[in-house]
Amino acid sequence: MGAPRSTAALLEVRDLHVAYGTAEVVHGASFDVRAGEFVVLLGRNGAGKSTMLHAISGLIPKRGGTVRFAGEDIGAAAPRHIVRAGVVQVLEGHRVFHSLSVEDNLLIGTYARAPRGDRSKLDRIYTLFPEMAEKRHDAASRLSGGQQQILAVAQGVIGDPKLLILDEPSAGLAPIVIDRILDVAAALCREGMSILLVEQIVEKALRHAHHCYLVDTGRIVGEGPADTMLGSDALHEAYLGKA
Ligand SMILES: Nc1ncnc2c1ncn2[C@@H]1O[C@H](COP(=O)(O)OP(=O)(O)OP(=O)(O)O)[C@@H](O)[C@H]1O
Ligand SMILES: [Mg+2]
Repeated sequence: MGAPRSTAALLEVRDLHVAYGTAEVVHGASFDVRAGEFVVLLGRNGAGKSTMLHAISGLIPKRGGTVRFAGEDIGAAAPRHIVRAGVVQVLEGHRVFHSLSVEDNLLIGTYARAPRGDRSKLDRIYTLFPEMAEKRHDAASRLSGGQQQILAVAQGVIGDPKLLILDEPSAGLAPIVIDRILDVAAALCREGMSILLVEQIVEKALRHAHHCYLVDTGRIVGEGPADTMLGSDALHEAYLGKA
């Protein structure tokens, strides 16, 4: 897609370093998501994409660098605070609570702001995700893998984030479900929500995103408008390595 990039950064990651024990796997990554922008991080397996996202969300500690969101330093903040500030991450692998109903799974997404759940948010979610309205009373275990991923995304959206982070929402899903999830993300972006997506389905991701960063071995090795990335040498190198 391409375009946006004009406004000031909403999320600003600078010189991010992250380690598991003594093994550093993110070595000084810097990137931005601007207000109202759809940004995609692309890179091969093990490049460090999920690690970067987890560090932003406060799920794993940072070894160095800064993370600012809407002008606030959230580098050392607890996950709950980061969610309240407006950053919600949908984790890899459609993790929902199987024994709970679809509706109860959705209400969990409102807990950070409303400890007893906020039912007033359900109507908008059922409008955005009609497939969830039909299944609202079913246990999540009865949903297909694709429906569980849509539920996981809906659980993130109901928290009303300013920035929605999606980590490989397409994993293991049929093309029609992938399109549905990316189309919803693009629609949310048009309504003003910023999106940070990690994907392996390169072409579809670039079609929906404004801006793209290429990740390789814990570093940002390239960036550019999404519509100029497809077929570029930089993209080829990030996936296959330098010849
Ligand atoms: N909990 C962990 N403990 C130790 N090393 C880890 C852990 N999680 C990830 N790693 C390592 O950190 C590096 C980056 O992994 P990460 O999961 O961030 O990559 P990724 O780009 O998200 O890959 P994928 O596309 O497969 O999801 C890899 O070498 C991985 O083996
Ligand atoms: Mg990952």
